[in-house]
Amino acid sequence: MPKAELHLHIEGTFEPELMFEIAKRNDIQIPFKSVEEIQKAYNFDCLQNFLDIYYQGAGVLIYENDFYDLTYSYLEKCAQQNVLHTEIMFDPQTHTQRGINFEIVINGISKACDDAEIKLGVSSLLIMSYLRHLPEESAFTTLEQSLPFKDKIKAIGLDSSEKGNPPSKFKNVFKASVKEGYIPLAHAGEEGDANYVWEAIDILKIKRIDHGNNSLQDPKLIQEIIDRDVALTVCPLSNTSLQVVSDLKDHPLKKMMDLGLKVTVNSDDPAYFGGQLNQNYIEIQKALQLSKKDLYELAKNSFKYSLLEGTSKQKYLKILEDYYRNSS
Ligand code: HPA
Ligand code: ZN
Repeated sequence: MPKAELHLHIEGTFEPELMFEIAKRNDIQIPFKSVEEIQKAYNFDCLQNFLDIYYQGAGVLIYENDFYDLTYSYLEKCAQQNVLHTEIMFDPQTHTQRGINFEIVINGISKACDDAEIKLGVSSLLIMSYLRHLPEESAFTTLEQSLPFKDKIKAIGLDSSEKGNPPSKFKNVFKASVKEGYIPLAHAGEEGDANYVWEAIDILKIKRIDHGNNSLQDPKLIQEIIDRDVALTVCPLSNTSLQVVSDLKDHPLKKMMDLGLKVTVNSDDPAYFGGQLNQNYIEIQKALQLSKKDLYELAKNSFKYSLLEGTSKQKYLKILEDYYRNSS
């Protein structure tokens, strides 16, 4: 099925094989001897536990071509899965904090996106995500660094350790980022409670909620999200990997749809959570017995709530509609 991916961290697409290859060519030691050892370590009990390993993996990325290879390899997977459009998050601070220049990161990623659009027919745009475990000043520095590359970045996001780092901590930098023309998005309600989602929509004025699972704790919040027509980028296999949801059969995705929330399916960090986007669709379909119409709705939302504008959004919706009509 033609679809878009709206919640994807490029650092989370780092497959063990590529990690070994880049570590070797950059002469960097990683604490794993084999792909099997890496896979064994990918056994998480919470978000923080995952993040520790995720930041460690990103540490082998040094040169522009490392960021290029990482991104292009993900975009090839998009092409194989009929993902026509993707909105890619990247965490500049994960790299600038270890002495890698902002421009190395953005140039490597955006060149791969440009090439993939031509060679693979996959369109993409970039979401610069601030790390919420760091102080707001560090996000301000990142905003400054991004300005010469403003034309390559569509939106800002907020990720990393949620609990104890509420959206309100980033009120000023979000305001300044919006002033620069970036669209505000944020992770909220993954491990944080419904109050985090309230803050994200009221204080950061976000246009899309990444995860948003814990919105279900508060009926007033659910109604507010529906009224504002804000979509949730839900990540089924991420939720079970990080034990946000104990079993896919208990996943709230269908309940969210039935309540009238606008939901999309996404892979989040596919190299770490055991499945690319198609696998997320397949497994959640099985677990919740989703109908063909439900799947169509999810794919439709992925284009409708993308950050694409005007004709390109309409073009994709038409491709999906034609596909659905011909397959049912
Ligand atoms: N949550 C928060 N931060 C992240 C995630 C996530 O699922 N993936 C990568 N950074
Ligand atoms: Zn995420």
